[in-house]
Amino acid sequence: MNLSELNKIANAMVAPGKGILAADESSGTIKKRFDAINVESTEDNRRDYREMMFRSTEAMKNHISGVILYDETIWQKAKDGTPLVKVIEQAGSIPGIKVDEGTQPLPNCPGELITIGLDKLAGRLAKYYEAGARFAKWRAVIDIGAGIPSHNAIHANAHALARYAALCQAAQIVPIVEPEVLMDGDHDIDRCFHVTEWVLKETFQELYYAGVPLEGIVLKPNMAISGKKNGKRASVQEVAEKTVRMLKNCVPGAVPGIAFLSGGQSDEEATAHLDAMNKLGPLPWKLTFSYGRALQAAPQKAWGGKAENVGSAQRAFSHRALMNSLASKGEWKADLEKKAA
Ligand code: 13P
Repeated sequence: MNLSELNKIANAMVAPGKGILAADESSGTIKKRFDAINVESTEDNRRDYREMMFRSTEAMKNHISGVILYDETIWQKAKDGTPLVKVIEQAGSIPGIKVDEGTQPLPNCPGELITIGLDKLAGRLAKYYEAGARFAKWRAVIDIGAGIPSHNAIHANAHALARYAALCQAAQIVPIVEPEVLMDGDHDIDRCFHVTEWVLKETFQELYYAGVPLEGIVLKPNMAISGKKNGKRASVQEVAEKTVRMLKNCVPGAVPGIAFLSGGQSDEEATAHLDAMNKLGPLPWKLTFSYGRALQAAPQKAWGGKAENVGSAQRAFSHRALMNSLASKGEWKADLEKKAA
């Protein structure tokens, strides 16, 4: 492993004013997104949609440090025959790849899941490196509910994340370590804070046992936030303060950067939270975005599967990329959203 090279890539992924586009929806998830805009989920439509974002040249060059791809996309070619990986590289962004193979029920832990995909991962990583991927993603899912999460689910998922991270680094690929505590329940922000703290503590302990140098990873956590079904929503300031406190308790300063998932927050909420956290700086690590839904909801709606809408979809995408870029520097203002509307 060449750690200084891994560290260089990790730093580039969280470079000032830049964040990551998570465009790695599995076939099932992208179908759900396309259903919502009445677009059939064919291979060509998925390609056209993603190519639209990757060819948003200004946004890609200035605000998007890297793109997480799904297996199908890393092998796909743009309409003109250029591999999509090349389109991303030519825009000055780094191609990355989702390598987990989804989740399965965890035995003896009703309602809890374990992420799978470790068995043949070393071979798959070598192929992805050859195809141009310089970072990867593995998502562990932890749900909050009555009597869950259990220690076994947290521990098993943290262990899998650490094994994945070690395999990535051995393949000269920067692992995005993503332990996601879902915001689907009716829990309050403090429950989310405590569960996420527990999950992060276990994750960093397992990374330590697996010998993973932290200079060569990027962490992708959830924020400390109220569950979606909780009637009492924590304010932007409370989310920012509690998330930063939680991260300071758990994430060593050796980690170059933390790139949040949006997890079902609205576009503007995800931006406002990131901005408020960066306004609390200076912080030990870069804090930026690795958003899926909060970057793509607006362009998806504007596109609607029609070639004539590519321009307006690209403008919608570029706007969200710019807003989140400003937020990653603590320079966003709510007025900027209204002006664009
Ligand atoms: P969201 O921002 O939509 O949560 O997606 C990010 C991601 O990559 C989840 O694994």
